[in-house]
Amino acid sequence: MIFHKIHSLKGEVTVPGDKSISHRAIMLGSLAQGTTEITNFLQGEDCLSTIRCFGQMGIHIENNKDTILVHGKGLHGLRKPDEILDVGNSGTTTRLISGILSATDFEVTLTGDSSIQKRPMGRIITPLTMMGAKIESIKGNGCAPLFITGSKLKGIHYISEVASAQVKSGILLAGLYADGETSITEPYVSRNHTELMFQYFGIDIQTDNTTVTVQPAKEFPASQVVVPGDISSAAYFIVAGLIVPNSEIRIKNVGINPTRDGIIKVCEQMGANITLENITDTNGEPTADIIVRSSELTGTIIEGGIIPTLIDELPIIAILAAVAKGQTVIKDASELKVKESNRIDVMVKNLKLMGVDVEGTEDGMIINGGNTLHGATIDSKLDHRIAMSFAIAALLADGPIEILGAECVNISYPDFYTHLNDLSQ
Ligand code: S3P
Repeated sequence: MIFHKIHSLKGEVTVPGDKSISHRAIMLGSLAQGTTEITNFLQGEDCLSTIRCFGQMGIHIENNKDTILVHGKGLHGLRKPDEILDVGNSGTTTRLISGILSATDFEVTLTGDSSIQKRPMGRIITPLTMMGAKIESIKGNGCAPLFITGSKLKGIHYISEVASAQVKSGILLAGLYADGETSITEPYVSRNHTELMFQYFGIDIQTDNTTVTVQPAKEFPASQVVVPGDISSAAYFIVAGLIVPNSEIRIKNVGINPTRDGIIKVCEQMGANITLENITDTNGEPTADIIVRSSELTGTIIEGGIIPTLIDELPIIAILAAVAKGQTVIKDASELKVKESNRIDVMVKNLKLMGVDVEGTEDGMIINGGNTLHGATIDSKLDHRIAMSFAIAALLADGPIEILGAECVNISYPDFYTHLNDLSQ
């Protein structure tokens, strides 16, 4: 797919539902008793993988596009699937579902695409095994395919080396089935959608700074979930609105949970003109309209506790940094290497192809800004966030940008190119 420079961006856009919250709504809806109604669910491939996996385990899920009805069967209602569970490209499905599968009364094999089969699963295998789970990495490399034998679980207190909401959530889901309380402490606070949704469904969960504690669950009733817009999808338009001259756009109904809003903080730190309007609460999740206007930006340092709150936005932040004045340093982000692709390598390589002064480091990047962006052919490595980031970079480039594998945006934002086109002038 080929992208060209535009003059400005104007208008309003409604980004799709939050990916993290959509996954969790299917999972909790499946484990609840009764029918959970989900609106504004993200109809992206990752979340459809979660629906498919629970469908294979006997949960009847009606997908009417606008509304999803999950006919939950209670905490112990899942049945052994006839086939292997295929999570596609979804790390969230893999790590969260592993927590639930650890506690069933059946055996199951879990696998996914070639990217998933390279991503580290030891980080979830270790704590779940401490809880009594039986999980085998079939190839012995700490990655999927995983063979999981449901077992009786015990509560643990786990100190995690990584700030990962996927690890935390896998443990918390397993904790629902443990014989006593389960807690996890992380180095920094990661996104807390599992905690908020547990609370919303009436599960006993407490957070104290970087430690979260869940009590074994009794059966809990179904609920209604309205999914806020995904700030990780909004991020592309936030950056586009800032860097393309004469732009002003409103991104409607976006989740601004403080464990996810690092992109807004970093943009403001760089001098961005961003305002929030219509701030409200959706199932305990704060949401707002985000208004962005073209701005003069300067480089900054992004490190430490803010990293987990913008981890998925670092590729698009790198584009922002490439056009801002001065240097931007991204540190403490070695997690980027184990996402859908090695996002340090892939960003650095492709930014260089566009003429950007950038250097990869062990845990991030150093970007010297103020670059003129040139046309290039960009290999997305089928990583949705890489494809979307370079589609935005193309809006300023002095030559055409060809993106290979551009259709991978279907993972998290199937209408991305249409929405971008609608805003472009
Ligand atoms: C997610 C957590 C993040 C994020 C991923 C979704 C989640 O991963 O990168 O896209 O829904 O819990 P980690 O928690 O492993 O950093």
